[in-house]
Order: sequence, then structure tokens, then C-alpha cells
Amino acid sequence: MNLPIDQLIEKLKSISGYIPPFRAAFPKEGLAPESIAKAIATYERTVVSGALPSTRGSKAMRKRSRNRQSADFTLFNTKAGCSNCHSGWNFTDDSFHDTGLPDGDIGRGKFFPSVIKMGHAFKTPGLREITRRGPYMHDGSVPSLEAVMDHYNNGGINRLSRSDQIKPLGLSNRKWASSLCS
Ligand code: HEC
Repeated sequence: MNLPIDQLIEKLKSISGYIPPFRAAFPKEGLAPESIAKAIATYERTVVSGALPSTRGSKAMRKRSRNRQSADFTLFNTKAGCSNCHSGWNFTDDSFHDTGLPDGDIGRGKFFPSVIKMGHAFKTPGLREITRRGPYMHDGSVPSLEAVMDHYNNGGINRLSRSDQIKPLGLSNRKWASSLCS
């Protein structure tokens, strides 16, 4: 929530619904930095992404789903270059890149000021369940997957820190993005 921890505690304490469940779950600590961290960690362990559509349902359903998605997924892996960064089972290379978004936040550049490519670089997010968790990007500035595709298709801001993998793509059909990883 981008707040110093003491202000966060004050904020949560002012919301009456939080206090009894914290007391019940953490009788010794109550509402405290440690119990907040434990509560969030326990919540996160419940957020589990199931099988992809291509591995779910009957054999016939899986075949239909594969046929519909394979053209899109080929584009993802080839001309559009998405899999250069969104790679592996979780669709992330666990690395940091500048994708050319206009936000003034220099991201990873704060920690590596002398490395040009770390300017405006953010971690590549995984794409599991992507249709269900807009708005997109680190600042939530991109409202839909269609708008994400417009961004990649235009190539974003051309600056020194922008990844060499990001450039105008010249794709004509932007609808495919939303069917990729849901
Ligand atoms: C150079 C590496 C790179 C390439 C190539 C790339 N991405 Fe990304 N992608 C990222 C990074 C880094 C972010 C996070 C950017 C940010 O938040 O500032 C991101 C964010 C996204 C998001 C938003 C995820 C979220 O949870 O907010 C989507 C969707 C996405 N990319 C899809 C794609 C698609 C589709 C392609 C191909 C057209 C693609 N990406 C190509 C690195 C890349």
C-alpha cells in the first residue's frame, strides 16, 4: 500500500472490521507488523492457478481449445516476441526490462543507476490468469489486454533504457492477446 508500516497499522486499526479477526487469529500479537505479514502470506498461499484450458476438460474440449489458441500462441512465441521475456511455465523470465511505458518511475534503475538498461525496468510479470487481473502494468495504467497489445504493437517510448526486444511489431489483429493465458 506504499505506506510506512506505522501508518499502515494506524490505518488498519481505524477500520473496526480488522481488529476482532486479528485478535482471534493472533491472540498474542493482535494487529502488528508480523501478524500482517503472516496474514498476507497465508492469503497468498491460497491463490493457486489451476490447469490451463489446454489441459482441462474432455479430450474434445482440449482439442478445440488448442486449435483456437495455437495460432495466437505461435504469434506469441515468434513474430510478436512475447516469449523472449514471458517464458517458461509461469510466463516470466524473472528478469527486469523497460517496456517503454510513459510512467516517470525509474523502477530497478534506483538500485543500478549506472546500468542504462535498468532505467524504467520492472520485473516481467507472469501471465497466468491474466484476463482476470487488470488493470495492467506496475502502475495499473493500462486498462485492458487490448490496450496492452496496442502498447506492444506501438513499441512504447523509444529511449536508451528500453529493451532491445521491444519495438513496433506491425501486427494487425490485437484481439489474440486475451485468449492466450486464461
Ligand atoms: C523485453 C521483455 C518483454 C517482452 C518482449 C514482452 N513483455 Fe510483457 N511485460 C514485460 C515487463 C517487464 C512487464 C511489466 C512492465 C511494467 O509493469 O512496467 C510486462 C507486462 C506485461 C503484461 C501486464 C501484466 C500485468 O500483470 O500487469 C502483459 C499482459 C504482457 N506484458 C503481455 C505481453 C505480450 C502479449 C507480449 C508480446 C506482444 C509481451 N508482453 C512482450 C516484459 C516483456
